[in-house]
Amino acid sequence: EHGLASPEYEWPHNGMWSSYDAASIRRGHQVYQQVCAACHSVNQLSYRNLVGVCYTEEEVKEMCSEVEVTDGPDDTGEMFERTAKLSDKLPEPYANEQGARFANGGAYPPDLSLITKARHDGQNYVFALLLGYREPPAGISVREGLHYNPYFPGGAIAMPKMLVDGGVEYDDGTPATESQMAKDVTTFLAWAAEPEHDERKLMGLKWIFVLTLALAQATYYKRWKWAPIK
Ligand code: HEM
Repeated sequence: EHGLASPEYEWPHNGMWSSYDAASIRRGHQVYQQVCAACHSVNQLSYRNLVGVCYTEEEVKEMCSEVEVTDGPDDTGEMFERTAKLSDKLPEPYANEQGARFANGGAYPPDLSLITKARHDGQNYVFALLLGYREPPAGISVREGLHYNPYFPGGAIAMPKMLVDGGVEYDDGTPATESQMAKDVTTFLAWAAEPEHDERKLMGLKWIFVLTLALAQATYYKRWKWAPIK
């Protein structure tokens, strides 16, 4: 069961030879951090995963220095607070599912690590969903606490509209329009779900190159061997 079919977008990383737009992943992380992280975890990501992809090590260490995490137990059996390290996962907004549901009127904001894989037409869906909030059409009423969005299966979603122009401060100065933020956060989530994507395509390219050479060599050798027989 799906909602309204999402339009297809030409993601810059879609092509067989195309890699992710690192600047967009970086901005998308800023959207995630400033907006989505209040309710959604991306529990497959550690700080170190951002290093060399969309931030330098110094930048991520700086980011960590502003985050307190609970660690322990220590020698005395106590839990303690410390600043985050590169090896820590990005912090989760709620202690557990009950806490998450309690804060969201009974609905559960899913972990977003694999959302672009878990949903039908993942990245087109996430993008369309984020921009898909509308007034309900005449004759359709939406229950208290839900919001009309035709892309969500059933058409009424517990998540309110999240993106408004200027809602995020981008550190590269890009104007944070709704559609810019939706594109960037979707790119960030698509990367998070498949961080090996660029490496995989590069390997594919190398294999094609090597196999083309091998084929050329084999063809030459075959013709050379058979030449006296024909
Ligand atoms: C659901 C993305 C911010 C609360 C979802 C879904 C996505 C998503 C993809 C899943 C829809 C599905 O199940 O198919 C995002 C993004 C955000 C963001 C990219 C930041 C731009 C937030 C915030 C809150 C929130 C800040 C809390 C105030 C929820 C809830 C659901 C949900 C409660 C479950 C909806 C339901 O089952 O009806 N979100 N979200 N989201 N989100 Fe968000």
